[in-house]
Amino acid sequence: MNDLSRLETKVSKSDLVSMSSLVWGTWRCLKQFNDTQSFARFLHELQILGVTTLDTADIYGGHGAEAFLGQALREMGTAANVFQIVSKGGIRTASDRFTHIETGHYDSSPAYIRRSVERSLRELGRQTLDLFLIHRPDYLMDASETGDALDNLINDGLAKSVGVSNFSTSQFNLLQSGMTNRLVTNQIEYSPLETMALDDGRLDQMQFVKLRPMCWSPLGAGRLFEPKGKQAIRVRFALERLSDKYDLSGIDAAAIVWTLRHPSRPVPVIGTGRIDRIGNVLRAVSKTIEHEDWYRILVASRGKDMA
Ligand SMILES: NC(=O)c1ccc[n+]([C@@H]2O[C@H](COP(=O)([O-])OP(=O)(O)OC[C@H]3O[C@@H](n4cnc5c(N)ncnc54)[C@H](OP(=O)(O)O)[C@@H]3O)[C@@H](O)[C@H]2O)c1
Repeated sequence: MNDLSRLETKVSKSDLVSMSSLVWGTWRCLKQFNDTQSFARFLHELQILGVTTLDTADIYGGHGAEAFLGQALREMGTAANVFQIVSKGGIRTASDRFTHIETGHYDSSPAYIRRSVERSLRELGRQTLDLFLIHRPDYLMDASETGDALDNLINDGLAKSVGVSNFSTSQFNLLQSGMTNRLVTNQIEYSPLETMALDDGRLDQMQFVKLRPMCWSPLGAGRLFEPKGKQAIRVRFALERLSDKYDLSGIDAAAIVWTLRHPSRPVPVIGTGRIDRIGNVLRAVSKTIEHEDWYRILVASRGKDMA
């Protein structure tokens, strides 16, 4: 189970290398776009910018985001084939559509994972997902059974690759031990406002097994822009200085450049519904910052020196 070197010999059919340098997330799409036509226009512009990987999940938008995305993609016709789709499943919550759930919970049992992926594919209008992630770790997960279920998604052509989200390092290793294919990522929260993954081993693990983490809410889910509380105010100020020093045109670009500076080469999953903001961030992704400047943001985030 802990033989990590063994994991490196397992080769998946698809890896994060085939994804765009920024991934766009659909979590907020039902609030950002009034109809599928305007959503399709946004997706078209994303494609022009080269952001061709879309992150979604069965539960987004009260279980409505995947159908909304699927319809917008259909309206784009064959142009939509350029997009890689990452979806997640395994959280069961009540919504207008699923009223029978009394207690929200995580479920990575083989039957549920399979059902969830089949439903996502139907809603998205796709034959296969480029990447399927287990959204949250299910404490009742049987690694061998869930591992088989993930392998079968690949074997049966429902997913080209599989991974996890919000898993600890031990949960990642446990699930990997029950599989033939390689998990290709752990999608985690990581930003100048959320730096826990630096200390709890999750980013170390990604480097160790030579995988790239996907990082959700890299702009602090918008908290950088309307900072409430001392941490966000300190970080915003430090990012403004960083942006000035490196001519990054804004704290959003500065936050992304800071995130990308980690040697595990995180892939940011951003959520703005404004194409100009995505263009601004993209102009900065090839830039890098000095070692000390990276620490300046970390110190601002933690509110204490690195003594
Ligand atoms: N795996 C998981 O458990 C998990 C959890 C959460 C999210 N995710 C994924 O991560 C994606 C991104 O999450 P997120 O939306 O929280 O990411 P984010 O990029 O950190 O935050 C997006 C928010 O910041 C605002 N924003 C961005 N740039 C701005 C600017 N320059 N000025 C003012 N406001 C700005 C956006 O508003 P505007 O739209 O107005 O620009 C939006 O409300 C989600 O869509 C989802 O795919 C995954």
